[in-house]
Amino acid sequence: MPASPTLSFLPLLLPLWLFQAEPTSEIPKQNPHASAADVERGARLFRTNCGVCHGPAGNGGRGANLAQPSLRRASNDQALFLVIRQGIPGTEMPPGWWVLDDHEMWQVAAYVRSLGRVPPENVHGDAQAGERLFRTTGCIGCHQVALEGGNLGPSLTDIGSRRGVSYLRAVLLDPASSLPEDFLQVQAVTSDGKRITGIRLNEDTWSIQLRDLSGHLLSFWKDDLASLEKQPGRSPMPSYRGRLSDQELDHVVAYLVSLRGDR
Ligand code: HEC
Ligand code: HEC
Repeated sequence: MPASPTLSFLPLLLPLWLFQAEPTSEIPKQNPHASAADVERGARLFRTNCGVCHGPAGNGGRGANLAQPSLRRASNDQALFLVIRQGIPGTEMPPGWWVLDDHEMWQVAAYVRSLGRVPPENVHGDAQAGERLFRTTGCIGCHQVALEGGNLGPSLTDIGSRRGVSYLRAVLLDPASSLPEDFLQVQAVTSDGKRITGIRLNEDTWSIQLRDLSGHLLSFWKDDLASLEKQPGRSPMPSYRGRLSDQELDHVVAYLVSLRGDR
């Protein structure tokens, strides 16, 4: 007799159930597999299972830069193990238990911790000089750090814990290379000929809300506009290629890397 459709799902659900059944309290607080040999094996497992997103040396790309002294979502060994085992729901970070057993995940965790002990990748600049440039070249007009600054661009309060150095450098030279998925620059022309460039906040069939380049919120009925042009792939952020010297660029990057949400 063929199994009922409900029962045939059981083998699929079983591993999930077993996984959820294990209480967090049974996970050691400290990594039980953190010898030099474990780190070495962890490095190999990392390159094959995590490197595509976090970079072969862990300093970030599509995934976060893990080569830092402290990790936002993994402040201790147990939290790190849980992030690796369960992934981060709602992000691209997948559950590790799909591909690794507990022992292997601890070894990977040991390797990830070892990354935080090496000095950060090629940050040559001076963060203080970078902060001054941030204030004098206009960045702060569009970006918030802590509670200060404009809001046309994303807040940079914790940018150093979200992005790697090479990515930050690329954004400053070519802002459009980093556009968030839901980001759209639009240009509206009103019936009396006023031209407004901004980023789209909301849109429905009849109206559009945007933030103009000076940070004002504006709302228009589409019928009242002479034209509305969408400019995908464009960023309102200017390129700093040629506007900042190589050394100044290093300073600004060093400042951004220092922003970890704790100031
Ligand atoms: C498909 C891409 C992808 C793979 C594969 C992947 N990750 Fe991630 N990981 C991410 C992304 C994206 C984030 C950032 C999620 C967020 O915070 O928005 C992340 C976050 C993390 C964090 C938290 C960082 C922090 O600052 O707290 C750790 C730790 C981590 N990953 C470790 C690993 C390990 C170890 C592996 C391999 C077993 C792995 N990841 C595999 C994409 C990936
Ligand atoms: C006219 C407003 C404007 C100015 C000036 C500006 N930015 Fe931006 N910036 C934006 C916008 C909008 C985005 C989001 C779209 C994009 O990534 O291009 C952005 C993106 C970024 C990002 C990527 C954020 C992320 O989460 O990936 C960084 C880093 C950044 N800017 C740093 C700077 C620095 C440093 C300066 C000054 C040297 C600066 N910006 C000047 C508007 C601006």
